[in-house]
Amino acid sequence: MTRRLTFAANWKMHHGPLAARAFIDRFLELVPPREGRELWVFPPAASLHVVADAARSRADVKPGAQNVYWEPKGAFTGELSVPIAREAGARGGLVGHSERRHVFGETDEDTRRKVLALLDGGLTPLLCVGEKLAERDEGRTEDVVLRQLRAGLGGLDPERVSRVMIAYEPVWAIGTGRNATPRDAAAVHAVIRAELGRLGATGRSTILYGGSVNLGNALSLLAEEELDGVLVGGASLEADAWAELVGIGA
Ligand code: 13P
Repeated sequence: MTRRLTFAANWKMHHGPLAARAFIDRFLELVPPREGRELWVFPPAASLHVVADAARSRADVKPGAQNVYWEPKGAFTGELSVPIAREAGARGGLVGHSERRHVFGETDEDTRRKVLALLDGGLTPLLCVGEKLAERDEGRTEDVVLRQLRAGLGGLDPERVSRVMIAYEPVWAIGTGRNATPRDAAAVHAVIRAELGRLGATGRSTILYGGSVNLGNALSLLAEEELDGVLVGGASLEADAWAELVGIGA
């Protein structure tokens, strides 16, 4: 059986509509659909529609929102609702990315509401969890990751837990050029997978690794069967390089 792999590009605050269009046109030209490979793109909200339009004929390419608010509509200046994200072509949304948690003060309770809103709206949440360096040094990685996981998925029935994707992104590895070793990453993935099982997940949940993933280290990370794919920032910003990365492995 072909191993299923998910490659997710988080563009963060890069690529407006023009650059997004140029990127996606080039990327689709370079990357044919491949069995068992799912390719998510998380552009800035203003570029979501452009990516979704360009990838309309590609079931393997899934646009997603980098962030959503949990209320479906109303007086919430500057926020993106799930129904609007969906209308713009989103198939899912990131929740609890470390920059949302640590730059914008998103709480565990916020992540729970956002996960719920995405599921209610028929979109796939990609819940991000990960410890800070001090927490790792204090041996608290598992505690932190499990707390974030339980909070983000609190009260969900097993069917809904099964629809959530998880990204393990150690905060100290994001944008720093430092990685968890493949073994360390796999060990945390195993802890997450066991907890998802306890929360009732059926089938194999998708758990991605993120944090300074690039062409030079992706293959050794993905050699770990625990990793179902990668969530990539910096190394996903250039179409040719990203096309090469999503094509790795036989
Ligand atoms: P980098 O790949 O730039 O370290 O970013 C990782 C990330 O935050 C993806 O969501």
